[in-house]
Amino acid sequence: MTTQPDKDDVSSIGDHTAAVHAGNMIDAGSGAIRTPIVMANSYLLPDDPAAMNWSGTDVLMYTRNGGVNQLALEAKLAALEGGEEAAAFATGVAALHAVFFTLLRSGDHVVVSNVTYEAVWRLFSELLPERYGVEATFVDVSDLDAVRSAIRPNTRILHAETIANPTTTVADVGALAAIAHDAGALLTVDATFTPPPFYRALADGADLVVHSLTKYINGHGDAMGGAVIGSSALVDRIRHDALVDVGGVISPFNAWLIMRGSVTLPLRLAQHLASAQRVARVLADDPRIAFVEFPGLEGHAQHALATRQFGGRGYGAMLAFALDGDPATQNRFVSNLRVITSAVSLGHDESLIVHVGPGARGGSDGYPEGFRTYGHLRLSVGLEDADDLVADIRSALARTEITGARRR
Ligand SMILES: Cc1ncc(COP(=O)(O)O)c(C=O)c1O
Repeated sequence: MTTQPDKDDVSSIGDHTAAVHAGNMIDAGSGAIRTPIVMANSYLLPDDPAAMNWSGTDVLMYTRNGGVNQLALEAKLAALEGGEEAAAFATGVAALHAVFFTLLRSGDHVVVSNVTYEAVWRLFSELLPERYGVEATFVDVSDLDAVRSAIRPNTRILHAETIANPTTTVADVGALAAIAHDAGALLTVDATFTPPPFYRALADGADLVVHSLTKYINGHGDAMGGAVIGSSALVDRIRHDALVDVGGVISPFNAWLIMRGSVTLPLRLAQHLASAQRVARVLADDPRIAFVEFPGLEGHAQHALATRQFGGRGYGAMLAFALDGDPATQNRFVSNLRVITSAVSLGHDESLIVHVGPGARGGSDGYPEGFRTYGHLRLSVGLEDADDLVADIRSALARTEITGARRR
């Protein structure tokens, strides 16, 4: 006899079933089988509201404390990531800020990867030290001895990106969790580049996972959001301190859009991952390309770690590369692309490319030499046919006059 799956029990269902059903609620009023958009900021109070906790999140009262679409999205994200609870925010950066704002106080120390999304770099290099007395040490998280040496008695958090934006450095989540926990600290990871079901960092020991929902989880480039996922104890603290009392709440409409976009997440990821591997190979084999960073290439410094940690399911879908030329060459290449769009953000249905010049990152010592010499092109491989992406890149390369080449 086979066990019948139950769509409300995420432990018994597969990734695709969870992506379709988790968090979805049949609307009691209308009978609609998909959670409708509830564009209300307030909900009916009980007959006697005198005993209510106005900062509470356990009953629907006010959308900053919790609304229908936000709660549905949070339930879905917790299920997909394998966490007890999720809190949704207006953006990924709001979610990151919420973690650090809630868990740190003056005098605390943080060990942070020396390659992260720009806003995290600024938070720890300027805002938190200068305004709130939080100290940060930036380290290369691929050097575990360096991470161990950076830990101090007052280290509260070790923070890294599962695959770092933009260098694609892979964090060994299990090893970092062990270092953090030995020191009595928490491991927080930004898993924006590695959404579930591709990878689940909580299972490898991370205490909190942060996502920019703006990217793969929504996937359609039309909404912004962020989330923190982990134990109820930690997420509840973050919800109360940073959501209810600071207020970076996601709108019902954006929560609904992301809930809908995430239905196809496992399907979309499969195509993103396969196409990225193909595009990376094409770039790596072309003598006009100075460097390509992609964990799926055998020459990537953490290829073996990525293969082990991501279980052979793929290597993400973000690449960084540069033509063997000056910044004007990189710009000409981008302007010669016809399918791939020049725009910030990532994880959208359409492929996106951004040219970042060699001197762009003030002060970061975490960028490999190629990034500092040539700058880099950050490519988010989208859902177009891989053949079209490869043809677009080949044709743009053929039309690009390379100036200032360093190797040829
Ligand atoms: C790794 C990573 N984390 C966080 C963010 C910030 O997300 P949002 O733009 O939704 O605030 C980004 C944005 O590019 C990102 O790449």
